[in-house]
Amino acid sequence: MSENLKATLLMSSHKLCEGQSKGFVIDDIALFIIRHQGRVLAYRNSCPHRNVPLEFLPDQFLNQDKQFIQCATHGALFTIENGLCISGPCNNQSLVGLHVKEQDEKIYCTIAQPIDP
Ligand code: FES
Repeated sequence: MSENLKATLLMSSHKLCEGQSKGFVIDDIALFIIRHQGRVLAYRNSCPHRNVPLEFLPDQFLNQDKQFIQCATHGALFTIENGLCISGPCNNQSLVGLHVKEQDEKIYCTIAQPIDP
């Protein structure tokens, strides 16, 4: 089976301020984006500990001081830069990163779509 890369428009750039995160479901894939130090990063919304969504409240993916991504279920903390768990039951495991880009004041996520042969 091969793959096709499809860029999906998520939102306007100006609606995601520094330190904000936002969740989406695109083609049945739950994901979230974060603006951190001016850049936008994207990860699948699935904790490597139990494969459950990370957030307890909508669009709340960061811990209180906004220094780490946090899983609301058992409190695992992940670095924003690369999704590595540095504290919690899935220590040293990582979130799955996704391709994201900003172009013409819009944020796009690129998700690999399987193509049936
Ligand atoms: S499900 Fe995320 S830390 Fe347990």
